[in-house]
Amino acid sequence: MLRAIGKSGSRRNGTAELRDRGRKPGTIIPVIYGFLNQKGGVGKTTGSVNVSMELARRGRKVLHIDADPQESSMDWARARADAEHPLLINVIHYARNTLHRDIAGHVDHYDDIVVDGPGRGDDALTRSAMLAVDMVVIPITPSGLDTWASSQVIDTVQLTREYKPDLVAAFLISRRINNAVITRDIKRGLADVDQVRLLETSIAQRVAYAESMSVGQAMYEYAPGSAGDDEIVSLTDELEHQWADSAHR
Ligand SMILES: Nc1ncnc2c1ncn2[C@@H]1O[C@H](COP(=O)(O)OP(=O)(O)O)[C@@H](O)[C@H]1O
Ligand SMILES: [Mg+2]
Repeated sequence: MLRAIGKSGSRRNGTAELRDRGRKPGTIIPVIYGFLNQKGGVGKTTGSVNVSMELARRGRKVLHIDADPQESSMDWARARADAEHPLLINVIHYARNTLHRDIAGHVDHYDDIVVDGPGRGDDALTRSAMLAVDMVVIPITPSGLDTWASSQVIDTVQLTREYKPDLVAAFLISRRINNAVITRDIKRGLADVDQVRLLETSIAQRVAYAESMSVGQAMYEYAPGSAGDDEIVSLTDELEHQWADSAHR
């Protein structure tokens, strides 16, 4: 989703102001989404790649930044190149804790930017990525439900908000197996987490996610019209709406 600088009601936070400096009113700058959670295997790469591809399907010019030293998004992009599918999004690897400063060099060239964050042991990278983004999506899995509310990523959100009070953050239930149990447990836990919303869309555990990623495709290419395709469409819609709502608070 695009936003214009200097429009009345547009949201300003520290990073946005840094990026906005010196631009003419009316200039369009991208919204930067980050899929971040220091816990590995929660679906950051799967979710971020699919959202980037969905944004591209909507006609946007997307930069996908792989901020993980393990290069999972890059592996996807390499598989895609090997299969000779059109790239559709620009995927770059940038796993340095200066991302929050260096991302400014990219914002002029894209409609949307999506950051795929690192996993365990890369706290400085996650902190830098969180400073770089406008909206944090925190994928959490059912197996981690008992601990997520007090997890490292929540500490990072709170720390980041000392510098960026308007940081938008939302949980995404990922790799969902049993809906009823999750809803009950999440709602109970959510009450304890300050200003981190729970997205209504959740991502189910589906073999097609793993399969599509391994062949360098998006869910909408691998299984068009499937429930997984619908999930990503509704996740992307929701992210855009969350952003729009926060921008006019
Ligand atoms: N919704 C899903 N359904 C099935 N498998 C998934 C799903 N999300 C992720 N996976 C698989 O789980 C593993 C970890 O997912 P990944 O997106 O790489 O997580 P992270 O980036 O948080 O480490 C990968 O093998 C991936 O294919
Ligand atoms: Mg990953």
